[in-house]
Amino acid sequence: VNAANIRVRSASRRTEYPIVIEEHLAASLATHLERVAPGARPILVSSPRVWRHHGSAIAAGLGRRNGREPEVVLVPDGERAKHLTSVSRLYDRLLDLKADRRTVVVVVGGGVLGDLAGFAAASFLRGLPVVQVPTTVVAQVDSAIGGKVGVNHTRGKNLIGAFHPPLAVLTDPLLLATLPARELRAGLYEVVKYGMISSARLFARLERDLPRILACEAEALRPVVAECSRIKARVVSIDEHETGLRRILNFGHTVGHALEAITTYTRFLHGEAVGWGMLAAARLARTRGELSSDAFERLARLVDRVGPRPPVNDLSIEACVSATARDKKVVAGTLHFVLPVAIGRTRIATDVTMRELTRALRTLGMRP
Ligand SMILES: NC(=O)c1ccc[n+]([C@@H]2O[C@H](COP(=O)([O-])OP(=O)(O)OC[C@H]3O[C@@H](n4cnc5c(N)ncnc54)[C@H](O)[C@@H]3O)[C@@H](O)[C@H]2O)c1
Ligand SMILES: [Zn+2]
Repeated sequence: VNAANIRVRSASRRTEYPIVIEEHLAASLATHLERVAPGARPILVSSPRVWRHHGSAIAAGLGRRNGREPEVVLVPDGERAKHLTSVSRLYDRLLDLKADRRTVVVVVGGGVLGDLAGFAAASFLRGLPVVQVPTTVVAQVDSAIGGKVGVNHTRGKNLIGAFHPPLAVLTDPLLLATLPARELRAGLYEVVKYGMISSARLFARLERDLPRILACEAEALRPVVAECSRIKARVVSIDEHETGLRRILNFGHTVGHALEAITTYTRFLHGEAVGWGMLAAARLARTRGELSSDAFERLARLVDRVGPRPPVNDLSIEACVSATARDKKVVAGTLHFVLPVAIGRTRIATDVTMRELTRALRTLGMRP
């Protein structure tokens, strides 16, 4: 049938949890919850927007419990809501509902909600169990897997956080069909990233199926979401706390984060900035002769086909370079840079100079 089951290992917590990928998953939500949290009382946490699209199917799938409708808490999402005050409001609601250790928090939403509600759950009563039901591309292929949860601080992104692996990740790729086109495309840059860092087969599939993926055709979407989930699961199972292998997930992110920072997080969706960042990293690798021109062209073409990105030509190269130097990936003064060396293969370079980076940014058309 159209289902996949992937296991994620959490070494530090000595547990393992499944990622279930299944279409129309809402219909069997109660069964899935019963399997991973037998007898637990589910409290759904979602956002008004996500709930408007998918709430009725999910509530129906959960059914009545002791004769009562499922309990739902709606909190605003979007990056600006990813803050301690939202966590605090969520605590209030959990207290109102008398959540206790027998509660399982079921998060239905994108990466913001997963991180925010996951963090609230991690800290409420020293930890309520969580099941993630991711509803964006980013959440399905990235943020819901791996156990990192947290919120932003006014002084920086994701500064407050915890490590709280879920009991399960329940993924229905069809939920993506209601995403705004720009959100869908932004997530797909991260999908291209997975192909480029570790799967030539996924990359080729994207080249072939991109139009059908953009149209959210189930047949095209399902294997892609599954393959990315598998890659993320493998990486975090081997390297839970980002000391080695997990770093390859940062491909495109050094420049991407810098672009987001110098535009005060208002111009780009995260994935769009990563799209630019991948081009910069690939150009750098190409100039060094570490990436073939054929591989470079294929990446550039695929990134462009994912869709338009807000421009970079008015942004200063110098500002961007100094922003990368402030990146937390700078270890003892050297920039750890993920360089693609082929389609499906990367390596971590620790000797990338600011001059090389400057040259690469120039080819993106940024302002000298
Ligand atoms: N924990 C991790 O390991 C990890 C990894 C990557 C990203 N993140 C975090 O993820 C966040 C970004 O997540 P995101 O891109 O999912 O953004 P998001 O959660 O803000 O969702 C984007 C928008 O899509 C809407 N939406 C969500 N699902 C929808 C659906 N099915 N139909 C229609 N609209 C829908 C939301 O309401 C929101 O407006 C960032 O805060 C980032 O830090 C965390
Ligand atoms: Zn990312």
